[in-house]
Amino acid sequence: MSQEKLVEIKNLKQHFKTGRHSVVKAVDGLNFDIFKGETFGLVGESGCGKSTTGRTIIRLYDATDGEVIFNGENVHGKKNREDLKKFNREMQMIFQDPYASLNPRMKVEDIIAEGMDIHGLAKDDKERKAKVHELLETVGLNKEHANRYPHEFSGGQRQRIGIARALAVDPSFIIADEPISALDVSIQAQVVNLLKKLQHEKGLTYLFIAHDLSMVKYISDRIGVMYFGKLVEVADSDDLYNHPIHPYTQSLLSAIPLPDPDYERSRERFTYNPNNHDTSEEPEFREVRPGHWVLCTTKEFDFYKKEHATTK
Ligand SMILES: Nc1ncnc2c1ncn2[C@@H]1O[C@H](COP(=O)(O)OP(=O)(O)OP(=O)(O)O)[C@@H](O)[C@H]1O
Ligand SMILES: [Mg+2]
Repeated sequence: MSQEKLVEIKNLKQHFKTGRHSVVKAVDGLNFDIFKGETFGLVGESGCGKSTTGRTIIRLYDATDGEVIFNGENVHGKKNREDLKKFNREMQMIFQDPYASLNPRMKVEDIIAEGMDIHGLAKDDKERKAKVHELLETVGLNKEHANRYPHEFSGGQRQRIGIARALAVDPSFIIADEPISALDVSIQAQVVNLLKKLQHEKGLTYLFIAHDLSMVKYISDRIGVMYFGKLVEVADSDDLYNHPIHPYTQSLLSAIPLPDPDYERSRERFTYNPNNHDTSEEPEFREVRPGHWVLCTTKEFDFYKKEHATTK
């Protein structure tokens, strides 16, 4: 993993107007970077704004405020059609529901080739077919599958088709929004391992959105924890699991069942109470341990540093 930034997210906001006087602040001032070749895991409970973050980064929604810098260029700034096309090719998304995200009336070949067609990546039908066949094999399917329709496949196979579709335009960055949550547990690891293999072979960078903390630890280099539209903690995976600092992260981790039943019984559970925070000032993102950032006030920062800065 390099320390070169591929994506820089600066003060990103997505506020939905839900009525004349009501606004949902689904994403409310996010700041984080994603390095080239890494997997950045985004976790948090249902409704905290994970999908909205992914969709805003990839410009399915216009941002209410803030910037997404991709390879040094602002994705949300004024862009001509050619620039937009380039971004659309560089960034791809894999969705949670492999049933809903594939058009049931299209053959697998055409689903996978759709992006290739838009970007003119195959010079003729022969090359188009050859590329689709190669992609099918890359994701663990085979060329006979090209002429079938989505309903003829299992959930795991459909997700592989979704992955092939994303890969077809040769992206550098993939946002995977809970790509395994809808799959049988027995299939989940296979799809995660496929994503890891592809990352290794193609040098891909991932934003991996998930509920399941054990899976996200397994796949992610770094993890960001979201709570009500804000990031409360960002750290290397191991450091986040070994030294959770923000009380919300501690509560999330304390809810994961452990395999050792004795330890499991004696273990402390934390319930997060957002009212227990210092309110003397607006919290800011601060670096408590090297590379380990926590949303906190100056007072909380001093406390966290005393507790966590030097522990191994
Ligand atoms: N298009 C929309 N219009 C209005 N509100 C929205 C819209 N999309 C999402 N929201 C609201 O924004 C908040 C964040 O939703 P989002 O889907 O991003 O959460 P999430 O973390 O992905 O949740 P889950 O884990 O259930 O997928 C929720 O309160 C949701 O109801
Ligand atoms: Mg979601």
